[in-house]
Amino acid sequence: MKLSLGVKLTASFLVVTSFWFAAFGVLANLVLERQFRKYVIEDQERKNGELVNLLQSRYKSLSGWNESDLESIGVSMLSEGLILRVRDAKGNMLWDAMAHNMGFCTAMLEDMAKNMQRIRPGFKGGYTERSYTLSSGNAVIGSVDIGFYGPYYYSDSDVRYLRALNVLLVWTAAACALFAMLLGAGMARRLTTPIGHVIKAAKKIAKGEYADRIREKSGTVEISELTGSINLLAESLERQEIIRKRLTGDIAHELRTPLATLQSHLEAMIDGVWEPDKERLASLHEETLRLNKLTYDLEKLARYDSEKMILEKKGFDLAQLIKRIVTNFQSVFLADGISLKYFTEPLEITADEDKISQVLVNLIANAQKFTGRGGEVKITLTKKEETAEVSVSDTGQGISEKDLPYIFERFYRADPSRSRTTGRSGIGLAIAKAIVLAHKGSITVKSEEGRGTVFTVELPIK
Ligand SMILES: Nc1ncnc2c1ncn2[C@@H]1O[C@H](COP(=O)(O)OP(=O)(O)OP(=O)(O)O)[C@@H](O)[C@H]1O
Ligand SMILES: [Mg+2]
Repeated sequence: MKLSLGVKLTASFLVVTSFWFAAFGVLANLVLERQFRKYVIEDQERKNGELVNLLQSRYKSLSGWNESDLESIGVSMLSEGLILRVRDAKGNMLWDAMAHNMGFCTAMLEDMAKNMQRIRPGFKGGYTERSYTLSSGNAVIGSVDIGFYGPYYYSDSDVRYLRALNVLLVWTAAACALFAMLLGAGMARRLTTPIGHVIKAAKKIAKGEYADRIREKSGTVEISELTGSINLLAESLERQEIIRKRLTGDIAHELRTPLATLQSHLEAMIDGVWEPDKERLASLHEETLRLNKLTYDLEKLARYDSEKMILEKKGFDLAQLIKRIVTNFQSVFLADGISLKYFTEPLEITADEDKISQVLVNLIANAQKFTGRGGEVKITLTKKEETAEVSVSDTGQGISEKDLPYIFERFYRADPSRSRTTGRSGIGLAIAKAIVLAHKGSITVKSEEGRGTVFTVELPIK
């Protein structure tokens, strides 16, 4: 059965409070009752002692036993549940409550037994008697037997007192249960509101709506991380969506022009409008070459872009590699009127040399393409603690802030309109990034429009 967080939280709070109060109630009753029983028994003994004192003082003040005085004491004691039997020093009966009113005494004892059974079912009690010797100075003046319901008896007021304690306990438990419910509901609301937002956002994402972000901040670490991740997910999906649309559009655009040219030229030739002469066939061939490069680029990208890029790592001197690449580029840079310099120190790293070479070639080719006559391109190799850092900086046109986040994406070109003439596919950086990431390195860019660009590649040495 699926239950909401609110119900579960409230229920668990309730269970905890109920359990606590049940345990506390049983324990409190046990302890209290034991104390109370002790008190009642002691109270009975105190009363007996007082009665003995009373009888002795009556004897003294009346200079002997007075039967009517004893009767009034005996009757008043009966009303307190005490059944007296007083004898003089010789053992003659002076007052016997039982003899005085047998019916009342047995009724009273039965009543007490019934009362105790009601409060404590199964209570083992009954008529109990204690005998005391009465004396005046050193002389024995008689004896008294005090009969009562024992081992102890709870009077009505005692019962009321015990009940009141339990009622208080029940009310406190009820108040705490209410508080637990409110607390549970409140906490659940604080947890479920942001989760509700996450659910809503996730559903929207599933439908392909990525624009919304969860703005509420939560004080719970996990919830805050959850909303953060959902926001991040939406952001990256939104970016991917933009790139995907652009990519599809780009491929369609790239294909359309050469295909349209091919189609119209071939139709003209079939219809006999055009002679299939050498020049026209060469132009058609050029278009097929363009299509071929595009499919080749796409294929290469798919290969480098896959997660499981196979690296053939070995140790080599990165400085030597840079020197070789620069030598290859020298003539192109010379023709373009751009100066190309490098600053290196020997630095042995373990990596896939061919693929690292591809990264550097792509970066240097970009620098050359986007730097005008009279510009300067610099390659620097620096050894960091555990990494090798290669930076390629140019004094070219730079990249606008709007384009900067996208240049590593496939087929992204800052100025697509000019790309057909310059033969750019917009995948050089995507490939470079894929290779660097496969080496567990990083590639970053800093650029200022109109001033130049710096690409920095960091590779682990080992
Ligand atoms: N050094 C640079 N200076 C200015 N802009 C650059 C530089 N390097 C890259 N860019 C921008 O980033 C875009 C993407 O570069 P990338 O190398 O991926 O593609 P490309 O050079 O256009 O095409 P390809 O490398 O596939 O032939 C470029 O089109 C350009 O707009
Ligand atoms: Mg490039």
